Amino acid sequence: MTQPDADFEAFVRRRIDAIELRLAEAAAAQTAFTSDAAQHLLAAGGKRFRPLLVVLASQLYAGAEDSAIDRAAIVMELTHVASLYHDDVMDEAEVRRGVPSANSRWGNTVAIMVGDFLFARASSTVATLGTDYVMLQAETFARLVQGQIAETRGLTEGEDPLRHYLDVIADKTGSLIAASTVFGGMVCGAPPEVLSALAAYGEEIGLVFQLSDDLLDIASDASGKTPGTDLREGVPTLPVLLLRASATDEDARLLELTAGPLDDEAEVAEALTLLRAHRVMDEARAEVARRAEVARGYLSVLPQGHARDALSALCDQVAFRSA
Ligand code: FPP
Ligand code: MG
Ligand code: MG
Repeated sequence: MTQPDADFEAFVRRRIDAIELRLAEAAAAQTAFTSDAAQHLLAAGGKRFRPLLVVLASQLYAGAEDSAIDRAAIVMELTHVASLYHDDVMDEAEVRRGVPSANSRWGNTVAIMVGDFLFARASSTVATLGTDYVMLQAETFARLVQGQIAETRGLTEGEDPLRHYLDVIADKTGSLIAASTVFGGMVCGAPPEVLSALAAYGEEIGLVFQLSDDLLDIASDASGKTPGTDLREGVPTLPVLLLRASATDEDARLLELTAGPLDDEAEVAEALTLLRAHRVMDEARAEVARRAEVARGYLSVLPQGHARDALSALCDQVAFRSA
């Protein structure tokens, strides 16, 4: 592995800072109210994971224009944030990024409209990049929505629960993260085999990202979100699915608590306590770590250098994140 390079790191930092300014501009609207509501979640922070992936992948080959990198990153982050406005309505989430969600602050209608507004801004930005980008963005949007619909509908007749869960998170999270790595490759003119490897890496690291997000929903009180949201909604994530597949007599109470949606806060707390101490949490963490290695494996096709090393380092950071 090459040593971290100060110039490379400084370049990435400069791009992320420039993207931050342009994101706020892209979310500016005709009225102060809409601007405030649209900038609300952006101003609250966030990891900017998708912009980072665009920037890193854009450095696999020389020649990417700064402006194209920034616009590609903005499209990904605006689409992501737009989906969060809608997601918090559907999940009735009150807190996001440590601040009140848009729906809890302004109501569902404003939250949905602001999500649409941000998606419109992502669309006008992607149009400046070209039709290949528009096509991938549109296909990704269709997958996001279908993943969300599949999650909402739940299991269909005869479907394997773990397969259903993995398909849902591939569509609702993996797709946009894969589009981010591919956008980065596109702006630096990466050849088709590298774009394919970036897509495979992005899908897998996206799964790792969502699996660890779902673990944090159980394990962390410091994620900036309310713990136990999936339990309240009755959405079974990996630890609950592993529990159902291997439960013993001792698990009767936890199985009962995790069988469907919970609206009693004492029961949510009880389920969280039991799950946090259960072996299925370690089994789920092991699966996350295994998949992070699968993601890393796809990088072997990429040219060696700082960009590839940074994408490799992200595998560990995403698998073992604490927020
Ligand atoms: C978060 O999942 C939600 C998503 C990753 C995407 C949901 C997709 C949509 C709402 C459709 C897309 C709409 C637009 C306008 C682009 P989660 O609830 O498991 O995660 P959380 O813990 O962050 O709430
Ligand atoms: Mg949610
Ligand atoms: Mg959701």
